[in-house]
Amino acid sequence: MKKILVTDPIAESGYTILREAGFDILDYANSSREEWIHVLPEAHGWVIRSGTNPDEEAIQKADNLEIIGRAGVGVDNIDIQAATRQGIVVMNTPDVNTISAAEHTVGMILAVSRNLAQGHESLNRGQWNRHALVGTELFRKTLGIVGCGKIGSEVRKRLQSFGLNMIGYDPFLTQDDFDPSHLKIVDLDTLTRESDFITLHVPLVKDTKDLFNVDRFKMMKKTARIINVARGGIINESDLAHALIHGIIAGAAIDVFENEPINENHPLLNLPNCILTPHLGASTKEAKEGVSLAVCNQVRDYLVHKNMTFALNNPFED
Ligand code: MLT
Repeated sequence: MKKILVTDPIAESGYTILREAGFDILDYANSSREEWIHVLPEAHGWVIRSGTNPDEEAIQKADNLEIIGRAGVGVDNIDIQAATRQGIVVMNTPDVNTISAAEHTVGMILAVSRNLAQGHESLNRGQWNRHALVGTELFRKTLGIVGCGKIGSEVRKRLQSFGLNMIGYDPFLTQDDFDPSHLKIVDLDTLTRESDFITLHVPLVKDTKDLFNVDRFKMMKKTARIINVARGGIINESDLAHALIHGIIAGAAIDVFENEPINENHPLLNLPNCILTPHLGASTKEAKEGVSLAVCNQVRDYLVHKNMTFALNNPFED
């Protein structure tokens, strides 16, 4: 009987698919690496979210592994090259989290423009800070969307009704992909200089690591705010803290961090112009259920029928 190792929490419906297909489940969803590393050599399939790092060291121990299924879209936590070398297919579920991530982004933009978290906190402290927490309207402001693919496009559609001027940058898309009355494509420097709000929707890869650093913050308007519901590491966190503390930019709303969970000394904690959420972009009932079903179906279909859906590598190429 083939075994599936699960090392991050996924919705129960996914377990049901795997059990009904006759797999034995090694459930280490709430365990540490030290615990699951010992059973990894037994696993034929491995289901993860962003909390597990299948790095080269782990992958080399996975003697029987055929597939890593990522419940979610980001794969920066997986050493795909190491998996390929070992003949292991890596798949993700790219569509399922789109709406949840887009909705969280819209929530963050509204929260950072109107000091929602700061207002709530001040009331809890017994303060009535109406005049200290004056926000800014979105109407007629410029929203810069960095990464205009699935999530960036859903953010744009949702914010259209706020009367924002929308500009976008995407290394793989051009103006021909968009109606210019909906989204004007510009280069990254223009977007950085002209935006009142910048929202990031690119993956973390070599070219996007520290894409927003102190030099780029200095190009932004002093009144601008930045939102990251994409991936930690795209923004340099110490540079962002510096920019927020010294008034280089006005605010930030951050859901994702370079190292998660963050520790109590994180430079972005307790800054009055920065709101933080603990990687909640895809934390909805619908998205959790959706990724669990999708990834477990994909893992089953691969192990039983060798069907590849949303495979990110091809370990069988010459
Ligand atoms: C994703 O990449 O799908 C989301 O950030 C959620 C997650 O990492 O689990």
